[in-house]
Amino acid sequence: MRAAWYERTGPAREVLVVGEMPAPEPGPRQVRVALKTSGVNPSDVKARAGSRPMLASRIIPQSDGGGVIERVGSGVPGDRVGQRVWVWNGQWKRPLGTCAQFITVPVEQAPPMPDLLTFEEAACLGIPALTAYRALASDGGVQDKTVLVAGGAGAVGHYAVQMAKLMGAKKVITTVSTPAKADHARAAGADEIITYRTENVAERIKALTHGHGVDRVIEVDLAGNAGLYPAIMARDGVIAAYGSSSQEIKLLFSPLILTGAAIRFFIVYELAPKVRAEAIEQLTRWINEGRLRHAIGARYSLDRTADAHEAVERGTHIGNVIVTI
Ligand SMILES: NC(=O)c1ccc[n+]([C@@H]2O[C@H](COP(=O)([O-])OP(=O)(O)OC[C@H]3O[C@@H](n4cnc5c(N)ncnc54)[C@H](OP(=O)(O)O)[C@@H]3O)[C@@H](O)[C@H]2O)c1
Repeated sequence: MRAAWYERTGPAREVLVVGEMPAPEPGPRQVRVALKTSGVNPSDVKARAGSRPMLASRIIPQSDGGGVIERVGSGVPGDRVGQRVWVWNGQWKRPLGTCAQFITVPVEQAPPMPDLLTFEEAACLGIPALTAYRALASDGGVQDKTVLVAGGAGAVGHYAVQMAKLMGAKKVITTVSTPAKADHARAAGADEIITYRTENVAERIKALTHGHGVDRVIEVDLAGNAGLYPAIMARDGVIAAYGSSSQEIKLLFSPLILTGAAIRFFIVYELAPKVRAEAIEQLTRWINEGRLRHAIGARYSLDRTADAHEAVERGTHIGNVIVTI
């Protein structure tokens, strides 16, 4: 099969190779998926750059993808062959990810694709959509809550804005950095948009919520935005933190205890099976009802996987970066 891989970590252009290698065979309770698309997320790019140890001498990057089951291992019904599926955790704690013509995964990591979904859209679900859902659904959900989605034009943020509305949030406020990102977040359903690099975010939130503050923060940059929390958190609010621009986070204890705020940390790769199953069920329902929009920011061929990684590193695109297999 054709695949992109790396045998040492480092800059995309220096370490990513595209070539031929044997296709993996499905073991018991596994399926082999002929991939059409592979989604590139920041964590795939960070892993290739060296953020986590290499699990094997050769790594095929990327965890998300869309494709068709073309072979099944023992214990998997044969009628799953030919089914369109999406893949989650393709390269989490396993070396061979989705940036290849084939991947084998445990059968539960290849849920059926809703009919309305394209293969490009299928490659956006495993990390961005599931992350957004988990951030909103944990700790009692967001029904009737005022929600701040930090970075509402990001891959996760764009889903979070839409899902917050679908889950009955009272008001969805989001932060962006450019007019194009503001348009993207508004089209997703954001009620209020704050241009966070030029406006006073705390003052705007106070005004927009008549002094109440936000009940939920869906946080893309915990280190960058932690200084805002004493001023913007409503009583007993929850910050669902899925990203941070820095490892160290400075929190001001005295003003924060007055708010009663809690921080929910999580990583989408490690969702509990029950939580993931519920998230997949809800995503599937929304997609079947045509209620979720997906944003494809850029497409690259397999030969240009290094360009795809560099695009994610630049972060200038709006939407998901896809490698077309
Ligand atoms: N915990 C998890 O399971 C999990 C899952 C998915 C992603 N992540 C992490 O979450 C981060 C975002 O992922 P993504 O795929 O959504 O990336 P993305 O598509 O590049 O989106 C990130 C967005 O956040 C905005 N942003 C950056 N810093 C901000 C700040 N201080 N305040 C408000 N907005 C800010 C960026 O826009 P501007 O720079 O223009 O503002 C951009 O629109 C990455 O660090 C990723 O590794 C974690």
